[in-house]
Amino acid sequence: MEKRRIPRDSPVLDIGSGNGVMLVELAKSGYTDLTGIDYSPSAIQLSEQVKEKEGMSNIKFQVEDFLAPSAGLSGFEICIDKGTFDAVSLNPEDAVGKRKQYVRSLCNVLKPGGFFLITSCNWTKEELLSEFGEGFEILEELPTPKFCFGGRIGNTVTALVFQRKKVGPCILDKLN
Ligand SMILES: C[S@@+](CC[C@H](N)C(=O)[O-])C[C@H]1O[C@@H](n2cnc3c(N)ncnc32)[C@H](O)[C@@H]1O
Repeated sequence: MEKRRIPRDSPVLDIGSGNGVMLVELAKSGYTDLTGIDYSPSAIQLSEQVKEKEGMSNIKFQVEDFLAPSAGLSGFEICIDKGTFDAVSLNPEDAVGKRKQYVRSLCNVLKPGGFFLITSCNWTKEELLSEFGEGFEILEELPTPKFCFGGRIGNTVTALVFQRKKVGPCILDKLN
């Protein structure tokens, strides 16, 4: 975000914010418009405690199911996902449908031209490109730890930066 000179007051959404530590770190780096959502009320309760302890009172945390987001959740310049698309993908019931719903929700909350930063332990770069390739353009792959097995080098974690396309066919129509 620093490299791309994202203004510190850009609205940022952490999708599936867990204990909220990512947003606390962004607040410490000077970002001021931070929202975290998680469908687990106990995760939100925990993140409120972490926020209080760290003295970062301006972060908003709210219970939300990203697969059925409230209408007010929109207009974000940056959406961050660390492990939540993975969790959605592992749902035993209609994982394919839920992944499509995730992309639909992302299109609803992220402004055209906005950035989507995803970190996954479950999907390769190629797989993520196919999930998000339609309405998003890849900007870069962030470095993650590498391992070597059988003479081939791989990653246990994939971290990509996408930008939502500004023009072109409406991905929401394609997903319907
Ligand atoms: C693997 S954890 C990652 C938490 C956090 N991002 C981190 O890096 O520590 C996935 C999080 O996504 C949340 N989650 C899963 N499905 C969700 C959904 N449909 N809507 C909102 N949150 C969801 C879970 O409750 C959990 O906190």
